[in-house]
Formats: sequence, structure tokens, C-alpha cells
Amino acid sequence: MDSTAHTLDLSTRYRNRPLVSVELGGVVHRVPEGVTVLEAMWYAGIPVVRGAGCLGGACGACTTTYRAPGGMAPKTGLGCQIEVREGMSITLYPVDPPHKPTYRMAELDDPAEALFTIYPETRRCTLCDACTTVCPQDIPVRATVRQMMNRQFDLVAPAFDECVNCNLCAMVCEVGIAPNLLGLYARKAVARAMPAPPELTRRMRQIADGEWDGAWRELLALSGEALVARCVELRGAA
Ligand code: SF4
Ligand code: SF4
Ligand code: FES
Repeated sequence: MDSTAHTLDLSTRYRNRPLVSVELGGVVHRVPEGVTVLEAMWYAGIPVVRGAGCLGGACGACTTTYRAPGGMAPKTGLGCQIEVREGMSITLYPVDPPHKPTYRMAELDDPAEALFTIYPETRRCTLCDACTTVCPQDIPVRATVRQMMNRQFDLVAPAFDECVNCNLCAMVCEVGIAPNLLGLYARKAVARAMPAPPELTRRMRQIADGEWDGAWRELLALSGEALVARCVELRGAA
């Protein structure tokens, strides 16, 4: 992504807003009041590529920690959703994906039992609640880990409906649990026991029959710029 283009675009868009001073990664910048953390970074000319995705609070790519003036404890959230205010100190988290064991849910005899082989660290939960505190989606994460141990996948699966996989809960866990991956596991286990939606079955058959091969090849052949234009076009049509 071209950060220069963003800088120019944002300068024009926010030219009538008052400027505030915020610390971005340890350096003070003057940016328009009320823009999001990501917009503030682009405005200041700081390239953000891997920490930016949907810009709509859905992909979890932009995990951020920030502190407001007045000495309050640092908070965490999504950089595309947090609006900057005078005196804030902001740092984007580095991309830090957890270890992801591989398994095929469809081939597990007993998903509840297999959980402790695939994710043995689940038993080490200390109930510290750090994962709940850090979650920007207000998911009761600690409670879901306990429910996983109690084989209550039917309770865990809907609790993760709003999970954006930002990974913050995994980053703060002192015993190496990735609760978001456990949530995904529970959702797969619950889905496995249900009939597949007919639309999904139809589309999977189309993919297997090669009906979408042409469209896929067309996408892969696009340049980066053309791909961005296609995304913008699709977002506009949605
Ligand atoms: S459960 Fe974890 S990965 Fe999901 S939104 Fe909350 S902190 Fe992010
Ligand atoms: S942060 Fe880890 S140890 Fe603490 S409650 Fe959450 S899963 Fe358990
Ligand atoms: S960029 Fe997707 S959640 Fe912020």
C-alpha cells in the first residue's frame, strides 16, 4: 500500500479539523482530531501495511495499545476503530500469530477428547482473566476456556460469533493458550454436527467442478493496483 497516497488524501479530507498532538510509536505528531489511529498514522506519513486490513473493525489486523493523558492504565483495541484525542500515546502491536496445530475436524472421533491432545495447554489456564480484559469485542474469554474444558462447545461457539481474530487474548496469555483458536475449534465441532447449508454445498460443488477457476485465475493475474480498485468497486456495490 502506498502510504504517500494516503497522506495526501487525508490531508485534503481533514483540512478543516483542528489538530491535536499524539505520540505515535514514541514520536509526537500533529494530526486531525477524531481520526482513527490508522488514519493518524497515514496522515503522519507512517506506513502501516501489515497492521491494516478491512478498516471496518472486522478483520482484527490493527491491534493497538494506547494510553490517554492522565496516567490511566493502557488500553487495547482496534486501530481502525479508536479515535485519537489530544495527548494520547499509541503503539500498534507487531504481528504475532500463535502456533496453529493442524487437524481435520471431520476426521476426529471425539472432538471434546481430542481437544486436549491438539491444544494440551488448555488445561493450564490459571483463570487470570487477562484475555477477557484485553478483548475489544467484550467476549467473556476466560469463561469460554473453562467451558471448553467442560466440553460445553455449544456455549462456546456462539460466544465467538463476534471474534475478529485480533489475537490479543493469545498475546496476553501467560500459559500460551490461544482462546480464539479454541473458539474456532468449538465452532467447527458444533458445525460438524449440523447439516451443511444448501447454498454452501452448492457452491462447494461448483468449486470442485472448476466453475470458478476462470474467475480465480483472473484475480491472480491482477496487479496490486487493479486488485485494490476491484476491492473498492466491490465494497461500493455491497
Ligand atoms: S476473543 Fe481474542 S481474538 Fe477474538 S476478538 Fe477477543 S481478543 Fe480478539
Ligand atoms: S489469559 Fe490464559 S490463563 Fe488467563 S484466563 Fe485467559 S486463557 Fe486462562
Ligand atoms: S483493519 Fe480490520 S479490524 Fe481494523
